[in-house]
Order: sequence, then structure tokens, then C-alpha cells
Amino acid sequence: MTTTQAVSGHLDDPGPGLHPILARRWSPRGFSLQHRCSDADLSNLLEAARWSPSHNNSQPWRFIVGRRGDPVFGGLLECLAKGNQRWAAAASALVCGLAVLYDDTGAEQPWARYDLGQAIAYMTVQAGADGLHSRQMAGFDAQALRCSFGVGPGYEPCIVAAFGVLGGPHEVPAAIRARDDAARERAPAEDLVYQAGGAEFAWCRPDLLRTDGSDG
Ligand SMILES: Cc1cc2nc3c(=O)[nH]c(=O)nc-3n(C[C@H](O)[C@H](O)[C@H](O)COP(=O)(O)O)c2cc1C
Repeated sequence: MTTTQAVSGHLDDPGPGLHPILARRWSPRGFSLQHRCSDADLSNLLEAARWSPSHNNSQPWRFIVGRRGDPVFGGLLECLAKGNQRWAAAASALVCGLAVLYDDTGAEQPWARYDLGQAIAYMTVQAGADGLHSRQMAGFDAQALRCSFGVGPGYEPCIVAAFGVLGGPHEVPAAIRARDDAARERAPAEDLVYQAGGAEFAWCRPDLLRTDGSDG
């Protein structure tokens, strides 16, 4: 079951203690072509990622960064799924996050994707603090991206994130605006958290337990 939240102006109804930057965050498709990413905008995003935690401080991430109008942006845009290209073309910056799968000794870095995700999460929070919005995309052709940017086998392109500012009502095509205006949904907290005195998780429920007496 999910909770559908009223969406007026995307002022949804998160818990009152949630930090305003997190409470205001949402992932639009309707970006403004009027906005350009400054050097400071980009360097803040990358600093946020650089200072995020990682397993054994391995920092197993790399970023391919393009600003609208430059060849890197164009190359990233071309690799996106068509449905993503339609709106992401108006973003001010596209950032591909790559996980570094092996360390310098050739040992696998099993937490690399986890760490990269966290670094991107830091970026999205920094974006919010700087008045930017972001929308992440798994919808891209990783093989095409590898070819375009010469990405080696030890690196995994995991995500492309779009950053920019919200487009005005007359700037964003109606079809994109309609999708952005759709209600946002979240599962209720009690379905997600196991704690003393709380509800049992589905995996604890007798009706879902295996009948052969095993627990897995
Ligand atoms: C790993 C990941 C992949 C995503 N891929 C896409 C995508 O390819 N296209 C898209 O429009 N949105 C994509 N999204 C955005 C999600 O749909 C969006 O974050 C989710 O619906 C929750 O909405 P909110 O961010 O506004 O809270 C992706 C988000 C994540 C974290």
C-alpha cells in the first residue's frame, strides 16, 4: 500500500521534522532553458560527492559532467532513452555517475555502487541547498555511453543525473508539466521500519512463513 500525497506546488506532507531541503526535494522533468550551470554550481555538486562517506574511504566513483551546449552534455544526452531525452535536453547539466569496481590491486570493491549512490544523494542535497533540482535516470544505453566516452571495463556507468532549475509554466511543454504535476506516492513508514513495539514485517507474518519449518 502506498500513501498518495497532495501535490499542490509539490508541498507534500513529509514529517514535520524533515529538513526543509529534503522536504522540498522532488524530481522534475520540466527544467528551464533560461538557466545555465555556473562553475560554482558544478563545483559545489562535485564537492558534495567528494565529501560523502565510502567504504574504507575508497571513493569508488567517477563522474562525466556536461553542461548544456557542450559536447559532453550532447554525448550524454544521445545515450539517454528517448523518453528521457525529451525532457533532459532542457537540463542545465548532466552528470553520469560511474562505480569503480576494482581497487588499485585488482580486488573487487563490493560497496562501489552503494557508495556511488550515496555520493549522488549528497549531490542532490547540495543541489537543493543551491536552488537546483535534479532527476536521476537509469534509462540510458550504458554500452553506447561506454563507447562514446571510452569507459573501461572496471567502471560501471550506473546513473545519469540531470540538474537545473524549474521551468516556468509557459516554458515547459504541457505533456511534461502534466507528468510533473502527478501525485507523488510513498509507502507508509510502518511498512518500512522494524523496531521494538512496531508492526511486524511481512517476513515475520505467519501467513507468509514456509510450511516446511525452514525460515529461508
Ligand atoms: C536509480 C534511479 C533511476 C531512475 N531512472 C529514471 C529514468 O530513467 N527516468 C525518469 O524519468 N526518472 C527516473 N528516476 C526518477 C524516479 O522515478 C523518481 O525519483 C521517483 O519517482 C520518486 O520521485 P521523487 O524523486 O520526486 O520523490 C530514477 C530515480 C532513481 C533513483
